[in-house]
Amino acid sequence: MSAPIIDGKQISQDIRASIQQEVIRLKDHQFQPGLAVVLVGEDPASQVYVKNKEKACHDLGYYSEVHRLPADTSQEALLELVDKLNHQSNIHGILVQLPLPKHIHEKAVIDAIAVEKDVDGFHPVNVGNLVIGDDSLLPCTPAGVIELIKRTGVEIAGKHAVVIGRSNIVGKPVSLLLQRENATVTMCHSRTANIAELSRQADILVVAIGKANFIDASFVKPGAVVIDVGMNRLENGKLAGDVDYESVKQVSGPITPVPGGVGPMTITMLMQNTLVAAKRSHG
Ligand code: GUN
Repeated sequence: MSAPIIDGKQISQDIRASIQQEVIRLKDHQFQPGLAVVLVGEDPASQVYVKNKEKACHDLGYYSEVHRLPADTSQEALLELVDKLNHQSNIHGILVQLPLPKHIHEKAVIDAIAVEKDVDGFHPVNVGNLVIGDDSLLPCTPAGVIELIKRTGVEIAGKHAVVIGRSNIVGKPVSLLLQRENATVTMCHSRTANIAELSRQADILVVAIGKANFIDASFVKPGAVVIDVGMNRLENGKLAGDVDYESVKQVSGPITPVPGGVGPMTITMLMQNTLVAAKRSHG
């Protein structure tokens, strides 16, 4: 028997529907959440991501600004724009699309975003607050991963979660959020000696290692929840996750497909963060 699919698209739609209700309520109080997205250069994937964010804002009734800047924009000019957006009262969230062109120091730009408008959750103060368990804006993909696990109905507390991948934007924050939910967490990465053996111990397995179909059924304990954060473009143009879905779903419990699992959640959590930031600014 095949495992239940965790339908990220449907869950995402459900969350967006409740965000929309809240936006309508705020509109009655003459208040509208606002998001600014900044794109430097013409990276094709980034252009698609930015368009999707713009559309999500439009669909949900947010105020939205998209700043498309040429690839040769100076760091100084970008920092000036960030500073302007930091002070703009109709903007509650600022997202600078990454990667930035090589001549711009990403860290300098992230550090310049006002902590309370950092809807990516990338600012060191938000990262620090996540580590110590204080209120912060959570990074979108990790927050989406936790939401998907919760919606399976599987209890996280007391479970053994194994996270494969230790990136700053996914693996590390996911492990912190799972600990916050009282899981016992093992971190694996490209240099871990016995990944399959550790992975087989997981009640909850989160994979973000960036290698197509890296995890097959031999890595998975029967019934385990499997969350695949991978998005790998194959030579034939198709999108593949880090998990060999067809093989793993034969043994796993609830599992995310790629596409249609974690992917749709990222922008939804961005919209949620923007709403949270807007409401906090409103008092
Ligand atoms: N590029 C790819 N993913 C992301 C993201 O989540 N945030 C930003 N700012 N840039 C990205």
